[in-house]
Amino acid sequence: MDEEYGDAYPVEVQWWRPRRVTAADLRPRLVLLPGDGIGPEIVGATRRLLQAVGEFEFTEHAVGGASIDEHGTALTEDVLEACRGADAVLLGAVGGPKWDTTDPDAPRPEQGLLGLRKGMGLYANVRPVRPSPALVEASPLRPEVIAGTDLLVVRELTGGIYFGASGRDGDRAHDDCEYTVAEIERIARVGFEAARRRGGDPARVTSVDKANVLETSRLWRETLGRVAGDYEDVELDHMLVDNAAMQLVARPARFDVIVTENMFGDILSDESAMLTGSLGMLPSASLGVNGAPGLFEPVHGSAPDIAGQGIANPLATFLSAAMMLRHGLDMDTEATAIEAAVDSALERGLRTPDLASAEEEAVGNEEMTSAVIDSLE
Ligand code: IPM
Ligand code: MG
Repeated sequence: MDEEYGDAYPVEVQWWRPRRVTAADLRPRLVLLPGDGIGPEIVGATRRLLQAVGEFEFTEHAVGGASIDEHGTALTEDVLEACRGADAVLLGAVGGPKWDTTDPDAPRPEQGLLGLRKGMGLYANVRPVRPSPALVEASPLRPEVIAGTDLLVVRELTGGIYFGASGRDGDRAHDDCEYTVAEIERIARVGFEAARRRGGDPARVTSVDKANVLETSRLWRETLGRVAGDYEDVELDHMLVDNAAMQLVARPARFDVIVTENMFGDILSDESAMLTGSLGMLPSASLGVNGAPGLFEPVHGSAPDIAGQGIANPLATFLSAAMMLRHGLDMDTEATAIEAAVDSALERGLRTPDLASAEEEAVGNEEMTSAVIDSLE
């Protein structure tokens, strides 16, 4: 376990503070990791947008399949070091059929992403889900069901089954799920702090687990209950993951902050993303200890089927860049400007193919990007 970024965070870590970019270093140093599939297109578009709102120093590196092709591994030590030394990291997406394999010894693109999360100590993944008013029609749910939905998925990102011991032995395979109280407590605090700051009425944390079956879930539930004692202004309820999956489509507006472990969070955040009408709209931030650089990425994947055609939706990456400016660089004004410009482009009717209904004419990445840049105030 790495010393600087290991799992030995003090449990009193409660929230990240934006990393300050000091006066002596006015231009934030950003590492761009375009990755695979549509990654290079949407990160390229986001670079244009960022250049329109401020001055940044960019460096670009290969990760995922692109890095496997170049270096034989999904994440090199040099790239990890560059990310750790940056003010913030923006990632496109990794993976694609070219690198799909069931050979346990072959490198896989996803190892690049998991290596970054572990190596940068990014234990908190936050995914805000707030359907844009202009896109209510694009949601697969009826407008009256989706009305009022505004939730935040807080996913534990460096523990659980993703990082437990795993292996194959003849005709058997195993992936172990393990959690410590310290790991659960720090993500619980992120959830409660977020609920407090969001100021919902009532402010509520829904802790999602499978405590009727899993021991790690019982430890999770016990720990959440104890931490809740420090947040009397925030309601806590517990929900089993199967029920949560159902409630998310039945009554999404009942949720405020969902706090859950790594794999449940992976699944529920894709489900939540679809509430907004397209997975192509959802941004995310992965954050570690206060002041350490965060990693910002769209929730959708590399969409290899549409890569290179110029039709990818760049909006989730734009919104991830806005999260980067706000949570990673203390540039709230610029973050708000990007979010407003995205809303304005949607209100003016611009739709990439993933958002367009049968009657609507779709635009490509390029046109959407120009429209958002033109909408910046
Ligand atoms: C996500 C993705 C990743 C995950 C994959 C690409 C490893 O699905 O960020 O949600 O499972 O965490
Ligand atoms: Mg996922």
